[in-house]
Order: sequence, then structure tokens, then C-alpha cells
Amino acid sequence: MAASPLLPTALLFAVPFVLSFMFYLRFSADARRWLFAVVWELNGASACDAKTKQAKQEIFAQRPLTGRVLDVGSGEGVNLQYLAAEDVTEIVCVEPNTYFHRKLRERARQAVEERRARRGKPLSVRIFAGTLSEYAESAEALSLFDCVTCILVLCSVGDLRHDCRLAARLLKPDGSALYYLEHVAGSGLMLRTAQRLIQPLWNLLGDGCQLCRCTGHELHSLRGVASHTERRFSLLGGLLPVVCGVCRFASGTGPDGWGVEHARQERAARVTRRERARSPARRRPGQWWEVTSNRNVVVVVAR
Ligand SMILES: C[S@@+](CC[C@H](N)C(=O)[O-])C[C@H]1O[C@@H](n2cnc3c(N)ncnc32)[C@H](O)[C@@H]1O
Repeated sequence: MAASPLLPTALLFAVPFVLSFMFYLRFSADARRWLFAVVWELNGASACDAKTKQAKQEIFAQRPLTGRVLDVGSGEGVNLQYLAAEDVTEIVCVEPNTYFHRKLRERARQAVEERRARRGKPLSVRIFAGTLSEYAESAEALSLFDCVTCILVLCSVGDLRHDCRLAARLLKPDGSALYYLEHVAGSGLMLRTAQRLIQPLWNLLGDGCQLCRCTGHELHSLRGVASHTERRFSLLGGLLPVVCGVCRFASGTGPDGWGVEHARQERAARVTRRERARSPARRRPGQWWEVTSNRNVVVVVAR
């Protein structure tokens, strides 16, 4: 029987195509962001949410969310369903990947509409187009938060230690809390080796997502944590160990062991210095969307 020429011909075309696409991804940050947003929106976010729903419900039940909430790396906004709790009045979503913003605004609008239909407290959702560091440098970051949430984001931030501390510093000094659910490095040699082997491909397809981070350790070592609960489980057949929990900060001092007033003044001075240093032509207005309910309409404003 003669072998079908179809398979070799398909391979002849497919292999160079896949290789050049990977090469392109390696050098184009925008293509990586686009690809990740497509994959995450197609199925990633909802599949991952289904597998982590119980864990998320557990951490948010330990200490109900209240007041102003900062959600770091909101993606398409799948977690707004948990964040828009009864006593939450404002959610600030920090999300640098603009390919997520359309869906994120849609979800924000849904959350605000649901709150309005239930006749609960007014809720506003604000979306900041940038990274956590960029947000922390904006004048907006002078108003502190009651809660910060980091869900599957610390694997992707540029500097893990710096961003953990930054997230903690944005909390108010009165017993505020940081909620997290993050995948981390495996503890056994076999798992670590497997994670290291697939890291290069994972990195390209996951927009910089790192498999081998000791995120739990960084969060445990934050200064000012008064109490800490943590649970572990795993996803993808054990390939992704996950830690989730709540860090509650002591009242009185800043979460990073500073006097909060000192931290606030220092940040204010830094923002002013930076603003002054920029020429008016280079000054970039903060990119924000605001979703609020105004009596009986939901308003989405781009600022
Ligand atoms: C795996 S997604 C998770 C999205 C969402 N939290 C969820 O659970 O579906 C990680 C998100 O973090 C965002 N991200 C990456 N680096 C960031 C940074 N430095 N600051 C804020 N967000 C960041 C990415 O753009 C991406 O949307």
C-alpha cells in the first residue's frame, strides 16, 4: 500500500509556520499579550475559575471583603463576581494588558448593574490600564485600600518581592488584608525539573508567567503580618501547586512596618517630584475607565 503524501506535505508547511510564529512571539511583547488574552478569554479564565472556585470562596469567607478593594492583574474580570461583595463600595482593577479591557469593562458593568438591581450600596469599578508599579506611582495610589487581592498574577509580575511589598503598602493601617491564590514552584525534584523543562514554552504562551516562583515564601515574609492562613492544592494533574490564603496586617503601623503617615508622605513627594520632572508634552494622563451606577443608569466613563 502506497503511503499517503498528505501527512509529510502538511508537516512540511506546518513546522516552519509554527517555528516562525514562536520566533515572532519571542520578540514581540504585543503578540504575546494578544495571544495570552485570546487563550485566556477562550477558555482559560472560566476553566481555571471552575477549578479554584471553592478555594476562592473559602478565602473570601474567612474575612469578608469590605470598603475599597484593589484587584491586581484583573485579566478579563472573572473575579469580580467574588469581589463585588455586599460591603464593598469601590473596586480598582489594575490590568496592563489592553486586550483584556473590553471584556473587563463588560464584567464591571454587569457587577454594577447587579448591585443596582439588588438595591445594595452604590458600587463603582475603576479600571487602571497599567502595571501595579505604574499604579503605585500615580497620584491615585495616595488613597489606601481596605483589601488587596492577588489572584494568579504574582507569577507574571516583573519583580516578585518588590510587587508583594508594593501591594502590602497600598493597604490601610487598620487591620486590612491581602488575599491571594497563586501557583508556585513544586517542592520535589521531579516536579521542579518538569516545571523548568516546560518553562520556556509556558513563558511564551503565558505572557511571561513563571512556574518556579516561591510566592508563598515572599508573602509569609512580609513585615507587619499579624496573622496568616494558607491552604495548598494543585492544578493540571499536580503540575501547578497552588497556595491560597489571607494575610491580615496589624493595626497601627503600615503593613511594611513603616508608620503609614511616613509612607504616604514619601509617596506623595515622589509623585510630585516625578510630575515636576516631566515636561507638559511628555505628561501622559492616567488611563482609566470608571463604571458606576448613577441613579438608574450605569455609566462607563473613559478618562
Ligand atoms: C493569569 S492572568 C489572571 C487574571 C485574573 N486575575 C484571573 O484570575 O482570571 C494574570 C494577569 O496579570 C496581569 N499582570 C501581569 N503583570 C502585571 C503587573 N505587573 N501588574 C498588574 N497586573 C499584571 C496580566 O496582564 C494578566 O491579565
